[in-house]
Amino acid sequence: MALYRTYRPKTFDEVIGQEHITKTLENQIMNGHIGHAYLFTGTRGTGKTSVAKIFARAVNCLTPVNGSPCGKCENCLKLQRDNDINIIEMDAASNNKVDDIREIREKVRFMPVDVKYKVYIIDEVHMLTDSAFNALLKTLEEPPKHVIFILATTEVHKLPQTILSRCVRFDFRLVPVGVLMKHLRKIFDLEKIECDEESLKLIATAGEGSVRDTLSIADSIASYCKGKITKEETLRILGTTDYSLNIEFFNYLKDREVGGILALIDRMEKEGKNLAVFSKDVSKHARNLLVIKTCENANEILNLPDDVFEEFKQQADAFDEKTLIRYMQVFSSAENELRYTLSVRLLLETTCLTAMTGMEVKKN
Ligand SMILES: Nc1ncnc2c1ncn2[C@@H]1O[C@H](COP(=O)(O)OP(=O)(O)OP(=O)(O)O)[C@@H](O)[C@H]1O
Ligand SMILES: [Mg+2]
Ligand SMILES: [Zn+2]
Repeated sequence: MALYRTYRPKTFDEVIGQEHITKTLENQIMNGHIGHAYLFTGTRGTGKTSVAKIFARAVNCLTPVNGSPCGKCENCLKLQRDNDINIIEMDAASNNKVDDIREIREKVRFMPVDVKYKVYIIDEVHMLTDSAFNALLKTLEEPPKHVIFILATTEVHKLPQTILSRCVRFDFRLVPVGVLMKHLRKIFDLEKIECDEESLKLIATAGEGSVRDTLSIADSIASYCKGKITKEETLRILGTTDYSLNIEFFNYLKDREVGGILALIDRMEKEGKNLAVFSKDVSKHARNLLVIKTCENANEILNLPDDVFEEFKQQADAFDEKTLIRYMQVFSSAENELRYTLSVRLLLETTCLTAMTGMEVKKN
């Protein structure tokens, strides 16, 4: 099982880097001042869903410990099960229609079963349509006493003011690299994975403030290194700034050389590279080329070594701006899916072909 699944925090103490939020929620539990609508915002993999679930258990726990769920009482045991009917998780990305929200509105009236609160967790709430937002608003205006809404989003700027004004908002922060390192060390110790300090730092840095990303990168490195992580291997696998790889890849894209792309992906997979990270690098490279094409002081922005800059510049000439923008869109929207899919390679290949043929990637 993936590390980020195994190590999902179960109490507020286990959540790292979000003390400004967990302290407040603990206090609310201890004082019984519980709100009816919360908004959790912030980057992917920083704890929004985890905290929402802890909170959902804490409000129902019979004997909370310092504001966290005890994990032992009847209610905690019940709510720890994945599909308990009192915690309703909805992904607004795929249920974004007004009817989906109306269904919630009908159902909120029903009392929770055996516990005090029903908790609705609506993920990616920014994806709702305008009419769905309006329907949600009606519910948020007068929520029944036994219902709590937790809305989560990575893109808070897309939410209407009317929704914002009805929620208590918590901003999840990027987790500092030092905190990630400590967390990772603890997990490696528990998993009996050996890792030197420098590799630890490389991995934590590559996670860019997201706990989940850090753990999934750690996962792929650990499984490749079979329990003993070395700096050499880490560098090789992370390979994030392997410029020549990006150049090669973009040459294939430019020439629509499907065979070259498939072979390159095959090579990377055999070398144990994290393909989701690679996809991010591809959008970054497209962005770098775009900067070179459009900005006077491009290298002040990019800060590349001179020879690398020259090489990029040459490649930039071969693309028009529209194409680069499309690559950025296609690859950055695939990035997230790549983290969760079981067939990473297939998805990456499809993404490349989509980028080449210029079709839109449809997300549902
Ligand atoms: N603050 C944190 N402390 C400890 N572990 C965390 C934290 N944030 C994320 N994780 C790890 O990452 C996994 C996913 O976290 P979670 O689902 O809570 O993130 P999220 O913010 O909801 O992400 P998304 O925006 O993609 O929905 C957890 O199971 C856990 O392993
Ligand atoms: Mg989430
Ligand atoms: Zn309990």
